[in-house]
Amino acid sequence: MGVERTLSIVKPDAVAKNAIGEIYSRFEKAGLRIVAAKMLRLSREQAEGFYAEHKGRPFFPALVDFMTSGPVTVQVLEGEGAILMNRELMGATNPKEAAAGTIRADFAESIDANAVHGSDSATSAEREIAYFFATSEICDRA
Ligand code: PPS
Repeated sequence: MGVERTLSIVKPDAVAKNAIGEIYSRFEKAGLRIVAAKMLRLSREQAEGFYAEHKGRPFFPALVDFMTSGPVTVQVLEGEGAILMNRELMGATNPKEAAAGTIRADFAESIDANAVHGSDSATSAEREIAYFFATSEICDRA
């Protein structure tokens, strides 16, 4: 698998719960390095562009409303097998189905407000990282 980078978002519900630090801690305890990070409030245009693949699905308007409802943090995580590792740390999209001890099991309320996002493939990771970060904003910590 090798060293990978993946895009992670702490969503508005988890930021509102003051859980940024606990979530970052889980990444770091699992051996992932945070190599870029920022807090921002997404515009509707930014949220719609980020989730463009879901445009037309019934939950899309609610997803954009939720993602623009408050600040988020976006971060690039780096490490051995980082994409899958982050997906495992997050747990299933629907927190009711998320394994015990995962971020979504512990911090998410519902499938609509599910605490975190993580890239689902190398192709998505590349697109999503470039969506939020210039190459110059990503620090080399290897
Ligand atoms: S799917 O159904 O397999 O395509 O779902 P997924 O790839 O996991 O991504 C769907 C993203 O939309 C968010 N979302 C919902 N998904 C399904 N149903 C409902 N009602 C819903 N509401 C919001 C879901 O959290 C995924 O967001 P990200 O940020 O990618 O995890």
